[in-house]
Amino acid sequence: MLIWRCKMLNVASFFSGAGGFDLGFKKAGYNIVFGNDNWEKAAKTFRRNFPESYFIEGDIKDITEESLKKILKERGIKKINIVIGGPPCQCFTRLNNNKLRKDDERNQLFKEYVRVIKILSPDFVVMENVADLLIRKDKKNRPFKELICGEFRKTGYNISYKIFKTEKYGVPQKRRRIIFLATKKNIDLSFPEESKKITKVGDFLKKIKNLKNLKNTEIIKNEPNVLTRIKLIPPGGYYENLPEKFKTKKIRDGKLVTVKRYGSYYRRLSNSEPAPTITNNYIIHPTKNRYLTNKEKAILHTFPINFVFCGKTGDVSQQIANAVPPKLAENIAKHILKINQHP
Ligand SMILES: C[S@@+](CC[C@H](N)C(=O)[O-])C[C@H]1O[C@@H](n2cnc3c(N)ncnc32)[C@H](O)[C@@H]1O
Repeated sequence: MLIWRCKMLNVASFFSGAGGFDLGFKKAGYNIVFGNDNWEKAAKTFRRNFPESYFIEGDIKDITEESLKKILKERGIKKINIVIGGPPCQCFTRLNNNKLRKDDERNQLFKEYVRVIKILSPDFVVMENVADLLIRKDKKNRPFKELICGEFRKTGYNISYKIFKTEKYGVPQKRRRIIFLATKKNIDLSFPEESKKITKVGDFLKKIKNLKNLKNTEIIKNEPNVLTRIKLIPPGGYYENLPEKFKTKKIRDGKLVTVKRYGSYYRRLSNSEPAPTITNNYIIHPTKNRYLTNKEKAILHTFPINFVFCGKTGDVSQQIANAVPPKLAENIAKHILKINQHP
């Protein structure tokens, strides 16, 4: 019943990338009316996997009220019920902490998001970003989370946010993401509850029986010195677990010292744990002596096995790293159905 009613709900998505967010909503039964992105490779992936949806390929700044109205009219859509989107997060992420530019124009893209929301006037808005957004401030020292909430409130939305631990929402990955949920309806906002069960790598990788005949399965060939090190890393281990003689050395103050590395360096997954956040860095297969293929990364991101990513290997890896895990999105999509029907 829930699913049947949900088929009527229309979604518009911005900063859609490959469509991870969209896929979760589609799986929960929503109608994805259109997506938008200015990256050609992501646009190709989206069009391939959502052939029934329209796609606006281009900068969000160039989307006008007229163009949106035209798309809706041509598709016979009277109302967009939900807008979803993940404005780029490079400026908020810890990885870029050192070179964080507080006046980076990408920090302002959420304002463009609010602009198109004003035009579409949906009942609900969902916005995803990296968890570090919670502690970031702009050049006037104002917390971004307050600026974002303020912008939505000014537009007539009640807004709330929560940090999600994806391994507690059916995703075999320890990813931390902030989800803002906003509504124009007079209802109490809440979020889906965490499961007590932690989702693990082993349950997912076993879905891939055979890499043959699947797209995005290119195996990265390793130099012999890299392969030697890969073989020495135990499940769940990384560079630190290498015998001393295999660690990088450098001269400091005339002495030969061992170089320390981040936890992602030469990281091998463990079947009995969730993966760390999937980025576009290399990560070692839990039982095989090679890096994960993009297909395996996508599976750990909860994309279905038949989802095809377009572009070169690096483009595909970036699209996966950028994506909202579809299973997380599906949890949120189903929860919105619930609060919409039983406020
Ligand atoms: C974090 S990713 C979104 C991932 C997506 N939500 C998913 O689940 O697959 C952000 C996307 O915003 C796109 N983007 C960046 N600047 C943009 C702009 N000015 N207009 C439209 N899209 C933009 C990027 O190309 C990227 O694909």
